[in-house]
Amino acid sequence: MFSPRPCSRHRLVQGGIGAMLLAGAVLGAPAVLAEEIAIACGSGDAADYCPIAARQWAEQTGHSVQVVSTPNGTTEKLSLYQQLLGSESSDIDVLMMDIVWPGMLGNHLVDLNDYLPEGATEGFFPALVDNNTVDGRLVAMPWYTDAGLLYYRRDLLEKHGHSVPETWQELTETAEAIQAAEREAGNDDFWGYTFQGRAYEGLTCNALEWVASHGGGTLVNAEGEVTIDNPRAAAALDLAASWIGNITPEGALNHTEEETRGIFQSGNALFLRNWPYVWSLANGEASEVAGKVGMAPLPHGPEGESKATLGGWNLAVSRYSEHPELAADLVAFITSREQQKAHALRMGMNPTIESLYQDEEVLASNPSMSELYETLTNGVPRPATVTGDAYARVSNAFFNRTHQVLSGDLDGASAVQQLGRELERLGRRGW
Ligand code: GLC
Repeated sequence: MFSPRPCSRHRLVQGGIGAMLLAGAVLGAPAVLAEEIAIACGSGDAADYCPIAARQWAEQTGHSVQVVSTPNGTTEKLSLYQQLLGSESSDIDVLMMDIVWPGMLGNHLVDLNDYLPEGATEGFFPALVDNNTVDGRLVAMPWYTDAGLLYYRRDLLEKHGHSVPETWQELTETAEAIQAAEREAGNDDFWGYTFQGRAYEGLTCNALEWVASHGGGTLVNAEGEVTIDNPRAAAALDLAASWIGNITPEGALNHTEEETRGIFQSGNALFLRNWPYVWSLANGEASEVAGKVGMAPLPHGPEGESKATLGGWNLAVSRYSEHPELAADLVAFITSREQQKAHALRMGMNPTIESLYQDEEVLASNPSMSELYETLTNGVPRPATVTGDAYARVSNAFFNRTHQVLSGDLDGASAVQQLGRELERLGRRGW
C-alpha cells in the first residue's frame, strides 16, 4: 500500500542562510523546494535529544523536520515500525532503530553506503558498524550505545555499613537488610531492588544478564545452537523469581525502564538495574537522590562473571522515503562527532565514536564514562545477528517464559526446558 505524502510537506524556502542557498539566492540558480523530513525518534527519556539535533539540521539546511514520537517501550516501537514499513508507507523518512533490529528490518531500509560519503563510518566502533551491516548493506548509522548497569544508593550503603555487591547473593542479602532497616525507620515504600520485569524486550535484556552471569550462556550461541536448557540458566531465573515480593515490588512484572527510574529517583529503592541514561537524570534537578548515587557493574552468580547486555540505538532511512538523500544527510548530522559529543555532555549518552571516550570534556561531564567504555567493550550481545529475521520470536519466547517464572507460574528448570524446545523449533525453520 502506498500512502502519498501530504502536500504540506513541501514548501518554498523562506529564511535563513541554508534557505538562501537552497533558494539559489547566492548562486543565482532557480528556487529549490524545501522538503519536510519526518523522523521517528524521542520517547520521553534521554532520546529526547534527537528532536533538538533534528531542528538544528533543519535550521542549517533550510529544510524542515517533523518529529514523530513513538511509544516508549522498544517492543511497542517495533510493532509500529513493522506496520509502517510493512505497508510501504512513505510517511516516515528516518527511523530510530534498536541495535537488535537490523536483521529483521534491513530489507525495508536503504543502503546508506549509496548516500553517505566514503569513510562515513570511520572512527565508529567496528562492532556496531558490523551489527548494522546486513548482507553488505549498511542499513543504519550507530547513534548511541548502552550497557546494563547497577545503580546504588551510596549514602544508604554507607549508613548501614554494606559494600557494593559483587554477587547476586550479596545483592539479595544487602537489599533484604537495608530494606528492613529503612522500613523500620518509617519508609514503607522502600524496596531493595528494582528492575524491568514487564514481558517485553527489556526483560530479555535483564534475563540475559542473569543467565549469562551465572555461566548459563546466551540463549543461542554464535554458531546458532540453542544453549538455554541448562541448570545454571534455570538457577538464574529461580533466583530472580525469589526477589519478587521480597526485595522487588510485585509491580516489577509490569515495569519498564522509566517506572524503575521513577522508583529509584524518588528515593524508594536501594539498587536499580538500568542503562547509562539514568546517570544524569538521577543526579539532576528532578531527582530526590542527586549526589547520593553510585554506578557499578552488575553482580554475578556463583559460577559466572558480571555481564552487561549490550543495547543502543541507530538511525536508518526507510526504503519508502521520497527523499532518501536528505534523510541520509539528517542521519549523518545527528550521528556526527559534534552531535554525539553534545548528546554525551547534555544527557550522558554513550557515544558510538571511539575517540569521544578520550575527550576531556566528555570524561569530565560523566566520571563513569571511562569505566563504561570497559563495560561496553565487554558487553553481551543479544543473539540478534545469528537469529536474524527470527530474533523477535526468539526474544518473545524468552521474555514470556521468564515472565511466567517471575510470576510464579513456572519453575526455572521447566522454563528453560520449554524454551529450549521452542527455540529449537524456530531454529529448524532456519536462521
Ligand atoms: C535500551 C537499549 C535497547 C534495548 C531496550 C530494552 O533502550 O538501548 O537496546 O532493547 O533498552 O528496553
